[in-house]
Amino acid sequence: MPAKIIDGRAVAKRIRGEIGAEVDDFRKATGSRPGLGVVLVGDDPASAMYVRMKRRACERVGIRSEARILPAAATQQAVEDAVRGFNEDPAIHGILAQLPLPDHIDEEAVLSQISLAKDVDGIHPVNIGRLGMRGREPSFTPATPTGVMILIDESGVPIEGARAVVIGRSNIVGLPVALMLTNANATVTICHSRSRDLPTLVQGADILVAAVGRAEFVKGDWLKAGAVVIDVGSNSAPDASSDKGYRYVGDVDFESALPVAGHITKVPGGVGPMTITMLLANTLTAARRIAAGCK
Ligand code: GUN
Repeated sequence: MPAKIIDGRAVAKRIRGEIGAEVDDFRKATGSRPGLGVVLVGDDPASAMYVRMKRRACERVGIRSEARILPAAATQQAVEDAVRGFNEDPAIHGILAQLPLPDHIDEEAVLSQISLAKDVDGIHPVNIGRLGMRGREPSFTPATPTGVMILIDESGVPIEGARAVVIGRSNIVGLPVALMLTNANATVTICHSRSRDLPTLVQGADILVAAVGRAEFVKGDWLKAGAVVIDVGSNSAPDASSDKGYRYVGDVDFESALPVAGHITKVPGGVGPMTITMLLANTLTAARRIAAGCK
């Protein structure tokens, strides 16, 4: 039997509907809207597109969004000032510094400036540290990993006690998703480009999260039968049959994985729609906490 598809688009749509209704309630109760402040530095087209998508998604659910767009040559001081400006703005409840920042900018110093109460991207160094420490609670968890956890839950397969393999160790996906799986009591293996014998490691996974950034890298015959496969990849692959000349594919070779996996996400239509949805959810949460007087 082929794997069941975990439909990220449908899950995201359901959650966005709930967020839209809750934003309305917030407006009625407070007379104001939740606000997201976005800092974008430089003219990387992919980052500019993500920021446009985030702003559009905000509008659709009634969240106000404001962007500070700085030139690629912006100084460290200017980038940090943009973040501090949002910290002090009472109409802004969540702050996102779109990554990657240009090479001359000290990313950690910028992220450290974000007020913890407004760190809706969950990537302030203190929040990542709290995520990794027992008994500590981050104010927010990062968007993509949070979306991944919801999609795993959607499969109905218990995380507790499961063997989970994460391929990729990036700051915004691989590392935090591994920590979140550990916190949910999975037994987690983090693999990466230097891992020896990846297929054997993947073979042990009840849950596989592929976040390696290589098109169709994971093959179906690496998988354990019935595994939950969450594909975070979004890679462009040449496709002469498409008008654009390319199409988006994940990190998993979907065709060969489908007959082996128990549950699987598609690319596009899997993790992608969840990422922005989680950012919206965190922004609403931040606004509610700030309205309730939490620091
Ligand atoms: N760039 C790509 N994904 C992300 C993300 O989730 N957050 C931020 N801040 N930048 C990104």
